[in-house]
Amino acid sequence: MSINRRQFVQGSVVMGLGSLSGCIAHDFLNKTSEPLPEHQYKLVVKESHTQIFPNTNTPIMAYDGSNPALVIRAAQGRPVRIEVTNQLQEPTTVHWHGLRIPVYMDGVPYTGQVPILPGETFTYEFIPPDAGTMWYHSHFNSVTQMGMGLVGAMVVDEEKPVAFDHDITLLFKNWNIKKSGQSYPLSIKRLAARKGTPGLLYTTNGVQSPSYEITANSAVRVRLINADNTLLYRLRTTLSNAKIIAVDANPLNKPLDVNGFLLGTGVRADIGFITPNEVGQEFELKDDKAVLARFKVIEGNAKRVTKLPDLPANPVKEPDLVNAKLVNMTLEWDAADDDNGDPLFWNLKTKAGQRPANCTYPNQIADLMLGKSYIFSIRNNTQYPHPVHFHGHTFRVLKSNKKEFDFYLADTVVLEKNEQVEVAFVADNPGHWMFHCHIIEHMVMGLVGLVKVA
Ligand code: C2O
Ligand code: CU
Repeated sequence: MSINRRQFVQGSVVMGLGSLSGCIAHDFLNKTSEPLPEHQYKLVVKESHTQIFPNTNTPIMAYDGSNPALVIRAAQGRPVRIEVTNQLQEPTTVHWHGLRIPVYMDGVPYTGQVPILPGETFTYEFIPPDAGTMWYHSHFNSVTQMGMGLVGAMVVDEEKPVAFDHDITLLFKNWNIKKSGQSYPLSIKRLAARKGTPGLLYTTNGVQSPSYEITANSAVRVRLINADNTLLYRLRTTLSNAKIIAVDANPLNKPLDVNGFLLGTGVRADIGFITPNEVGQEFELKDDKAVLARFKVIEGNAKRVTKLPDLPANPVKEPDLVNAKLVNMTLEWDAADDDNGDPLFWNLKTKAGQRPANCTYPNQIADLMLGKSYIFSIRNNTQYPHPVHFHGHTFRVLKSNKKEFDFYLADTVVLEKNEQVEVAFVADNPGHWMFHCHIIEHMVMGLVGLVKVA
């Protein structure tokens, strides 16, 4: 049977596993493309161990067996190619969170690709249209695979280089282990129905409260990535001139305060600051419960940098707010059982009384026309915060009934309890796209849907 890549791509509508035979998958996998001069990676997904506490040995799943995973560096407008080999005992996929790329490279099983089966290799190839701080993670058996470590940072450099003296990437993840090193379950039902099951041990780039040296009088960019399954980090810093200059890879018109910023699961924030000139000074970046990172000033530039470099805007289309169609959605708690009699705690509805989403395969919750503008009005009718993420698109967060802000661009928006937000975007990327809460237990228990763009 011959089906070429193009046909596969055009036909990359929602497919049940049954409709894809192995030969199609193999034909797709075996396509070789022109060798690319740079930005090529090979990742082996496998089981491994890590020593988070001395004399402990935590079993993990890891890209190349390493914790933290490799920071993938790509460039805006330039092809990147990542060959992923699955050495796990179960299927996997890799999702490139924040990248507006074709759906068949988005790493969601069945809507875009067949899962990468044990022993198989799948090559992801795409051209990042936007620069900024992104990340990558498994989108298969996600509570386990992400919880056990299949998360990594991705940095897409701006087309025209932006010259900071320091560019530091910090990936936050908590681990469900105790001081003894003993693991406890990644998901506990009673907690999954509330805020999600939190990991007790805070890590940044795989270790507890790492320290970074920064030179005096320099321009610093620190990229924060919340790669945790469950926790939202409430940021604090002792560095008085640090500001948030970008959210979800998109530069802000007006920088925000770091203190009090809620970094939702899946969310990225870039902090910019000019290092003070007193050598030896130390600063902390914290959450309410832990020090996420320390910075120490060392000898550096004699002359003070006076201004941070500007970050260029990404080429995101402006939605037409006058003619945009409104789609209402609600996030609800629901104790109904699914078809298998398993409890479904969470529900993403577009109409009252709509059947709850199936846990393994989400419902279609919206049918959008390619090229048209939409406003999603999302209401959180629950007592818990939900960071809601949309694949393949960047939206403009317009307003909230709870807080004041200037609109900004993002791919994930946090809805606190009883909050209602409006986001607007142009549906410019064809496919069936995941729309879900990024608290991974909430996603698998019902806060998930598919948005069709065609
Ligand atoms: Cu990082 Cu489906 O998401
Ligand atoms: Cu949630």
